[in-house]
Amino acid sequence: MSLPPVISPTARPTELPIRQIPGSYGWPLLGPLSDRLDYFWFQKPDNFFKTRMEKYKSTVFRTNIPPSFPFFMNVNPNIIALLDCKSFSHLFDMDLVDKKDVLVGDFVPSVAFTGNIRVGVYQDVSELQHSKVKKFSMNILKQSSSIWVSELISNLDIFLDEMETTLSKNSSASYLFPLQKFLFTFLFKVLARADPSLDPKIAESGYSMLNRWLALQLLPTVSVGTIQPLEEILLHSFSYPFFLVSGDYNNLYNFVKQHGKEVIGSGIEFGLSEDEAIHNLLFMLGFNSFGGFSVFLPNLLDNIANAPKDLQHKLRKEAREKGGSTLGFDSLKEMELINSTVYETLRMNPPVPLQFGRARKDFRLNSYDSSFNVKKGELLCGYQKLVMRDSVVFDEPDRFKPERFTEEKGAELLNYLYWSNGPQTGSPSVSNKQCAAKDIVTFTASLIVAHLFRRYDFIKGDGSSFTILRKAT
Ligand code: HEM
Repeated sequence: MSLPPVISPTARPTELPIRQIPGSYGWPLLGPLSDRLDYFWFQKPDNFFKTRMEKYKSTVFRTNIPPSFPFFMNVNPNIIALLDCKSFSHLFDMDLVDKKDVLVGDFVPSVAFTGNIRVGVYQDVSELQHSKVKKFSMNILKQSSSIWVSELISNLDIFLDEMETTLSKNSSASYLFPLQKFLFTFLFKVLARADPSLDPKIAESGYSMLNRWLALQLLPTVSVGTIQPLEEILLHSFSYPFFLVSGDYNNLYNFVKQHGKEVIGSGIEFGLSEDEAIHNLLFMLGFNSFGGFSVFLPNLLDNIANAPKDLQHKLRKEAREKGGSTLGFDSLKEMELINSTVYETLRMNPPVPLQFGRARKDFRLNSYDSSFNVKKGELLCGYQKLVMRDSVVFDEPDRFKPERFTEEKGAELLNYLYWSNGPQTGSPSVSNKQCAAKDIVTFTASLIVAHLFRRYDFIKGDGSSFTILRKAT
């Protein structure tokens, strides 16, 4: 198989036929409303994009995306969808796209949710504040590396002990909230250097405070699976105001302000005010880290706990025979199958499925077979769940193949693994918008898998609960 050129979306534009971007936005109000109902209700996101891709015989087309009519009159739902690896990679080219205020599309949750400031994730690389926040975030990760592994393992063990206790009394142990509690404690300790146990209210309910804060910001853009048309009427027609979660947010703000002084101080050294440092830190903790892992880890656990016995056998063998007696950053270099299983989970279920970018200028956008004219100001929207199933790049794209990213051919495929808003072979920097934690996220996930298979001989369960955790003999 010859793979397309890596992140060089504008390569050889003249050789491709120029095609008008297919699709339309429909009648004003009615088009966006009908697309919204398809997206949330009649088709759901995967089919929404798939049916249009098939209808237009193109991986690049025009459509609308929610939120829209009636109470989002100031939101423009018109997008150009990008559904293959090549067209999607234009979103990484900062000369072509502006990332200002497009984290979740044209809709921007109220800045009241982030202390009335625009946090770094909403800033474009051309904004001075973006580089301050990005440096701050990368410095936090660097500083936390000395305690990352020990805190991860000790908090993971507390979580697993609790699961075992539940399983000793019941046939299954639901892990979603205990997992979030573990993530909350671990992330606050390593990233903010603030131990939640210092404040019983935060230790007990910090994770649900974050859940409520996240939900209110994202509800207009996500499908939660409640009964229709109630979901459309109650959850997707207007934004919920910040005051409903202001108590939660202020509790978390005060906790970080009081106990995270060392980390806040480093933000001030990068040129942020104290207030900006705290709100950005809280966003990284709550939205990026807690939110990201809360979506990603259940998918990973599902793949592991549902894996056929021979895969579990291979993972267990690797976890025990490789990497030395104590797990650490270096251990994972030798655990090829575990790393590949983590990458494959991120490919099949990218935790942040939508990425956006606004055309900075008129330019020519390429898919594999055509070239399209994009006008300055148009909003590009990549739907990663389909992009990561691009059959030009990935063999049997709909199959979970845990060994996909092993060996030389597998390493080459990392150029096309895009979960972090950039290739897995790329480097986050102040000049791009790639996730600051690109490496530590996969490292953490691999470490969790390795630890699980050192602690257990066999695991059974799904995306929300364990039924068997058989201790290592
Ligand atoms: C599973 C966990 C995570 C996932 C899935 C994830 C995913 C992402 C994605 C997709 C973006 C790009 C968003 C966009 O602009 O379209 C992003 C950006 C970012 N992420 Fe992560 N992330 C995770 C964990 C973390 C962690 C632990 C941190 C810790 C500091 C972090 C910090 C950031 C920052 C600072 C940005 C903004 C980059 C910039 O503005 O240039 N993320 N993340």
